[in-house]
Amino acid sequence: MINIGLLGLGTVATGVVEVLEKNQKNIEKKVGEAIKIKKILVRDINKKRNLPYNLPLTTKPEEILEDSDIDIIVELIGGEEPALSYIKTALTNGKHVVTANKEIISKHGKILFGLAEKAGKNLLFEASVGGGIPIIRPLKECLAANEIYEIMGIVNGTTNYILTEMTERKKEFGQVLKDAQRLGYAESDPSADIDGFDAARKLAILASIGFNTRINPAEIYTEGIRNITSKDILYAKELGYVIKLLAVSRKRNGRIEASVSPVFMPIKHPLAGVNDVYNAIMVTGYPVGRVMFFGRGAGKDPTSSAVVGDIIEIARNKNNCKNVLCTCFVEKPVINIGETESRFYLRLQVEDKPGVLAKIAGIFSNYNVSIHSVVQKSAEKATAELVLITHMVKEKNMKLALDEILSYSQTLEVSNVIRVEGDV
Ligand code: NAP
Ligand code: HSE
Repeated sequence: MINIGLLGLGTVATGVVEVLEKNQKNIEKKVGEAIKIKKILVRDINKKRNLPYNLPLTTKPEEILEDSDIDIIVELIGGEEPALSYIKTALTNGKHVVTANKEIISKHGKILFGLAEKAGKNLLFEASVGGGIPIIRPLKECLAANEIYEIMGIVNGTTNYILTEMTERKKEFGQVLKDAQRLGYAESDPSADIDGFDAARKLAILASIGFNTRINPAEIYTEGIRNITSKDILYAKELGYVIKLLAVSRKRNGRIEASVSPVFMPIKHPLAGVNDVYNAIMVTGYPVGRVMFFGRGAGKDPTSSAVVGDIIEIARNKNNCKNVLCTCFVEKPVINIGETESRFYLRLQVEDKPGVLAKIAGIFSNYNVSIHSVVQKSAEKATAELVLITHMVKEKNMKLALDEILSYSQTLEVSNVIRVEGDV
């Protein structure tokens, strides 16, 4: 019998309880012995729970962390504290740990893998990236032969759901966010989703494994989707793109590029058709070439699939630390975003007067920003809306050009600036 101590009983943990109950017989056969949840830590023992089982709840962490009969601690509380301290105590007390906590793995992975190694225990975190998509173990194990060049993906279910609803059903941002929260996709503080931090944490984990160097989320240029308007979505469609929150990391001459931002994605790109709560991660390397992982990126059921998969993996090998722990064995610096290159979509409001477009083109030219296309979208009350797509330009040149355009007397507003991925 393998005993589990569950920390938390929210969206994901509820799914874990259900899967272990519903698929019990099958799981027992796969593991060779039964898996039992011995105790569950919650904040409020009297809270009404949507589970038909009689559950062994406690509000005392020590009843789980200090119980010598418990083999595996499954942390599903979220956030940094007290979850981090609980994981440290669990490893120090000689327990295996499973977590879905990307914040903790991305920020504190090094120390936790050190503790796991010292204790000879496993620390698995498949659910921390991509919900139900298997990506951590495939990267660490199945793709271990490769030199990885690029990892690119849609890794936040909440924002992908919001962008899809805004694009396909013309819904408003605020309403769709409420739906995402009701469906259990969003983090307890949804700004982690909306402002891109959740995706940056996931990219930090993927890039650290893929490029074998520790990348902290704070080093990743991060921009969320708050500024995406229905107008940008409409113009994207007219130009043959969809808007996606893209996490991308590439190896460039021994250094690492890493960013999370909304992008214009050509509709023919494999990631452009990834909609709703679905996530997809595309990995490019030698010798495998390009592989893509796709599935539901958030929610109770897909995420519990990944968590229970980790529990089974540990249960099958509980007496030896079989799994690969830290794979960060080189140091590669992250390139400052200003030094990277991208294409851009720009939406500007300017005075509708002769010479204004020429002046703006001149400013771009002074900073080596080459324009691919310009469309004047409307001319109302002496105002023109300009929509431009650039060729590949250095980010810092783009910023300098935009600063000068903003200070030009005939510019009324720079309404949006969005990167463009793939071929124009
Ligand atoms: P959640 O619904 O907010 O549940 C959190 C649970 O933790 C609740 O049961 C809560 O207890 C308990 N808890 C919170 N603070 C506690 C404390 N100080 N002491 C004891 N218990 C505490 O969270 P979730 O959506 O399941 O997410 C859990 C983890 O999975 C997070 O790391 C999240 O990032 C990750 N994740 C979530 C998803 C998803 O789709 N939701 C997908 C992938 C990964 P009460 O029930 O008593 O309030
Ligand atoms: N809030 C996260 C998302 C949960 O929307 O993708 C899955 O990690």
